[in-house]
Amino acid sequence: MIFTVAIDGPAAAGKGTISRAVAECFGFRHLDTGLLYRAVGVKGGDPARAARELTPGDLARDGLRTLEAGQAASRAAALPEVRAALVDFQRRFARSEGGAVLDGRDIGTVICPEAEVKLYVTASPEVRAHRRWLEVGGDEARVLAEVRERDARDMGRAEAPLKPAADAVVIDTSAMAIDEAVAAAVAVVAARLGPAPA
Ligand code: DC
Repeated sequence: MIFTVAIDGPAAAGKGTISRAVAECFGFRHLDTGLLYRAVGVKGGDPARAARELTPGDLARDGLRTLEAGQAASRAAALPEVRAALVDFQRRFARSEGGAVLDGRDIGTVICPEAEVKLYVTASPEVRAHRRWLEVGGDEARVLAEVRERDARDMGRAEAPLKPAADAVVIDTSAMAIDEAVAAAVAVVAARLGPAPA
């Protein structure tokens, strides 16, 4: 079965947790596409070359989850050559046999417009910054400034900007516990998949 769940949205909205839970619930494979851009961002040198030559080892290195890596990823992700180098891998993953969940910024709009389910997971910048601050600590005002800066770059770039696909189901997690958000996402996928065969 070919079945793609595209989950887009801004940083720290809950996409990662929801994506992992949806993948586990339905036995689909999961790709965190932000990790590709983070690996490119921290690699140094020419970002387009880093994207073309990305290896599994690059995706497994330490330090990819930091705020700095997120900013480096966001800057690299604005370059059309970087995005182009990563398209085929993501498309193949999305349409591979057995079902796939991909989370990112442009999955439902650019990578897989034919996805069977498109979710746009969002929350207010303040709520997202607070959640990220609980994970990384430090100065909460600085974390909020980073969130706003990354939103502006990811939504404002010319190439594949972050926005909901016209046919995406929007889940605003600002006032939701994570298990409520997961349940909402699972319900959308289950409705599209139909009843399991007896
Ligand atoms: O989801 P994340 O925070 O790990 O993503 C890091 C950055 O990578 C994000 O700020 C923008 C970029 N990105 C992108 O442009 N397209 C994607 N599909 C995923 C991430």
